[in-house]
Amino acid sequence: MCGIVGYIGKEQAAPILLDGLARLEYRGYDSAGVCVAEQGLLHVVKSKGRLQNLCEKTDNGRTLPGCVGIGHTRWATHGEPNDINSHPHLSQNGRIALVHNGIIENYLELREALEEKGIVFTSDTDSEVVAQLLEYCLREAGSVLDALYMVLHRIEGAYALGIICADEPDKMYAARKDAPLLLGYGDGCSYIASDVTALVKYTREVSYMEDGEVAILTRDNITVLNAMELPVQKEHHHIDWEVSAAEKGGYPHFMFKEIMEEPEALRRAIHPRIKDGRIDLGNLNLTKEMLQGLRRLYIVACGSSYHVGMVGKYNIEKLTRMPVEVTLASEFRYCDPIVDDRTLVIIISQSGETLDTMAALREAKARGARILSIVNVVGSSIARESDDVLYTWAGPEIAVATTKAYSTQLAVLNILTIELAHLLGTVTDERYLQLVAELQRIPEKLDTVLESRETIQYYASQYFNHNSVFFIGRNVDFALGLEGSLKLKEISYIHSEAYASGELKHGTISLIEDGTLVVALGTYGALFDKAMSNVVEVKARGANVLALTTESKASQMKKNADGMLIIPDTEDLFLPSLGVVPLQLFAYYVALQRGCDIDKPRNLAKSVTVE
Ligand code: G6P
Repeated sequence: MCGIVGYIGKEQAAPILLDGLARLEYRGYDSAGVCVAEQGLLHVVKSKGRLQNLCEKTDNGRTLPGCVGIGHTRWATHGEPNDINSHPHLSQNGRIALVHNGIIENYLELREALEEKGIVFTSDTDSEVVAQLLEYCLREAGSVLDALYMVLHRIEGAYALGIICADEPDKMYAARKDAPLLLGYGDGCSYIASDVTALVKYTREVSYMEDGEVAILTRDNITVLNAMELPVQKEHHHIDWEVSAAEKGGYPHFMFKEIMEEPEALRRAIHPRIKDGRIDLGNLNLTKEMLQGLRRLYIVACGSSYHVGMVGKYNIEKLTRMPVEVTLASEFRYCDPIVDDRTLVIIISQSGETLDTMAALREAKARGARILSIVNVVGSSIARESDDVLYTWAGPEIAVATTKAYSTQLAVLNILTIELAHLLGTVTDERYLQLVAELQRIPEKLDTVLESRETIQYYASQYFNHNSVFFIGRNVDFALGLEGSLKLKEISYIHSEAYASGELKHGTISLIEDGTLVVALGTYGALFDKAMSNVVEVKARGANVLALTTESKASQMKKNADGMLIIPDTEDLFLPSLGVVPLQLFAYYVALQRGCDIDKPRNLAKSVTVE
């Protein structure tokens, strides 16, 4: 939530800041703003709404001179999205400018204290208090750095901060606690950003700030100090993906591009982990003894990552007979979870920065659990704080609604599931080899699913004006329905709900009337007959049924369904990997028909770094 970028160098800062913000806009798009230092003054330009407004106001930054600056794209928490509440915020004397991502929890108390001392606030935000407090502390402190440490001791909550001062135009300051911030090392210039996507066009050398650290950036150097104000040697990381990976490359939307990239992303996630037909998870130190010693296995995540966990529960329990508890991170952290050193917690997160997921990880770790995370963003906080990490290698995902990250998370969780079963001896070696062989065929099978996209587009054109949609299914089809339903509501704003089919008769069926759209998921062979019965039941009440099933069951399903989405047959374990793609495409085409802003749906952000 909220994107930050900062530049200090020899080039004009504003165009670089706006370009960086364009790549961070997925983090929030309520407003955008930049501030540059020039001739001893700070110049701020901000604009409500999309970044495009700010680009137009400043001729893509060209009208703003100055070689030092900070920029921000906002997902509003405190204060409505308007120009005044947009960042950067200036202190009262206009000599300090600041951008902030996170929430300052004690801002009201600090604000009242500063107001009593005569400081006048202009915005409703929690962030402005940091700028005002910094100016206030500077009255007593010997330097901006000392004042900044005084501020950091007084503020509570989460923050990534970027700060410039009119009186120190050759420096930029950054600080971090519980919100991502990284440093970029250029040739004669330095950067800060919330995410590497903002920097990769300019530099590939980055380091990740840790909680409690403060950075002082100049053109030629970045000094990092820890909470004790002692210097820290930062490890440099090289970003090896191409700039084009974060660009649309001729596709109309990032979401469509990312769906089309799924087979390739799956190949990247799967193939390097298979050696001579067997799974090789590198340094992941899992043993039979350790697994047998486990008392509990949790999967903890938010949003679509949680839905991956739901599929994982069915699959892991089926294959290993180990009980699995899947919990939303926002619930886990406050439920006094039963976790100890005989618990394995699998954390799933695309961004590796989701605040609730991060908090759940820390809670579990503090109670002694071993943490294995499945993460996309390399070097993210969750990845760094886990005992073991399995990266999904999906590449940058820009559309707010996740697609290829979901699919690669699922692929990695499936690999882990098969490996757990193998280690525990709950599958024979022959079965293990069969599963690994089929796993490697999934990307090709997905290619054929994508080839059927015109059919999916056709159904979207038939159903796009429905107001309410139900997704029903059993077992993995229920878990799949949760994701299909979320995709549809996220980007098309159609009310949609997913139900375990068996629950229909306990209430939901009363909502089915003539023409109600029901997406019936019947891919799971063992329960196909039950799925058919549910289709018949909702049809009898007037529903329009769009069914998702496998090639081998299609002719049977066709007898009752009004529309058919068909996927190739595969092992049960991999059905959701194929089944999710038609649902993603369905949501995409429906949103397209409805003229929605597909890549940036209203009120949402991709990386949720507030509670
Ligand atoms: C946001 C995104 C979702 C994502 C969820 C969890 O809501 O829009 O697509 O599933 O956060 O994010 P994570 O990065 O932890 O997977």
